Amino acid sequence: MPASTVLVIGSDRAALDQIRSVLTGAGYQVSDLEDVEEALRVVADHHVVVIDALKGPRSASDVCSEIRRAPALAAVPVLCIAQGDDVEDRVRFLEAGADDVIARPFDARELEARIEALLLRFQHSRGVAPTTLPSATPAPVRRLVACFSPKGGVGTTTLAVNIAVALAQRRPDRVAIVDLDPQFGQVATHLNITPRQTIAELSRDETALDEPELLRTYAERAEPGLHVYAAPGSPATAELVTPQTVGRILATATSRYDAVIADGGSFVDERTLVLFERADSVVLVVHPEIAALKALHSLLEFLAESGIVGSKTLFVVNHLFAREMLKPRDIENLLGSRIAIEIPHDTFVYLKAVNEGIPVVVGAPRSQAAARLTKLAAIAIGEAASEAGAADGERRGLLGIKLGI
Ligand SMILES: Nc1ncnc2c1ncn2[C@@H]1O[C@H](COP(=O)(O)OP(=O)(O)O)[C@@H](O)[C@H]1O
Ligand SMILES: [Mg+2]
Repeated sequence: MPASTVLVIGSDRAALDQIRSVLTGAGYQVSDLEDVEEALRVVADHHVVVIDALKGPRSASDVCSEIRRAPALAAVPVLCIAQGDDVEDRVRFLEAGADDVIARPFDARELEARIEALLLRFQHSRGVAPTTLPSATPAPVRRLVACFSPKGGVGTTTLAVNIAVALAQRRPDRVAIVDLDPQFGQVATHLNITPRQTIAELSRDETALDEPELLRTYAERAEPGLHVYAAPGSPATAELVTPQTVGRILATATSRYDAVIADGGSFVDERTLVLFERADSVVLVVHPEIAALKALHSLLEFLAESGIVGSKTLFVVNHLFAREMLKPRDIENLLGSRIAIEIPHDTFVYLKAVNEGIPVVVGAPRSQAAARLTKLAAIAIGEAASEAGAADGERRGLLGIKLGI
């Protein structure tokens, strides 16, 4: 196969030489040009364009929008290089139509990976057939699982990540986790990965939002075959993720994966409501403490008004601490609903898991914690019944919420 061609545009000769040597080393055929006019004339002859800093009348984002305005160049992806980690810069490039942005200083491997991802995405949009992996394990009945808690710091991300990893162990490359925590999502941290792209960049990509194989290029792979759609790195870029893009990401992801787990964080907004509506299971993490239960009560009242609470809600009690004041029966009475499963406290395995970025089900597979989390995963996707046993009809709890559970 002939090498893919990369055009690098920039005013700094030393920087151009550096980029050229990285990309040539990776097997690409590279042309670099300092003259913008000359470069614009030859964009169409290349598979991908990289725009570095430009001195002179036109800035890198001007040149980027110029390329994006030319319909004939729509199939040529543009990667812009931001000169620092300033969010404004990145947003400006994305608004100018850049398909991806990388910030200085960057690692040679990161540049290579971004170029490769762009080529893959654009190759697909030129009509390469999507690959469908055969799956030995059948797809579950409940495929989209939302994890949420109205209070932060109670283990929502821990549960979401472990559910996802437990499912991916049986279905490698057929399970995704989407970090929808609107602020500072930590799924990537729990998995010890550094995302090259996030759902903010994905939200800018009109084609990838609806095309499963292009969507996949925005995921980072974590062992044992979990595809991770990371949260935006900052509140500024998080604004690119709208309720509409959340709906499209979830729809496209559920069409590609056997199971999709979403970490909904602890904040209700329109994006969370889209998630709740689409989810087949909503795992509500319950911390057995009065303030957390009150917050949960308010949430349930709100959801009941919106007609969202229903048989898909699973209450999971997570024992963050060794000693609890509230007994499961008290909690069930307060909620007016059965607890689906309890996750016991462990002073060591969870701490180790976060510090090392290896989820409990992988890092401590023989622990009681891993067994409970694996059971939770099975309940969440409808493969196992809740431990509370059969549904108990409609109950009214002490908090006055009527739940059809
Ligand atoms: N059952 C548990 N026992 C002990 N520690 C836990 C348990 N569940 C979670 N943790 C710890 O609680 C902290 C907060 O968890 P995290 O999942 O980040 O919460 P959230 O997403 O709700 O903010 C983490 O350090 C995690 O290791
Ligand atoms: Mg979290």
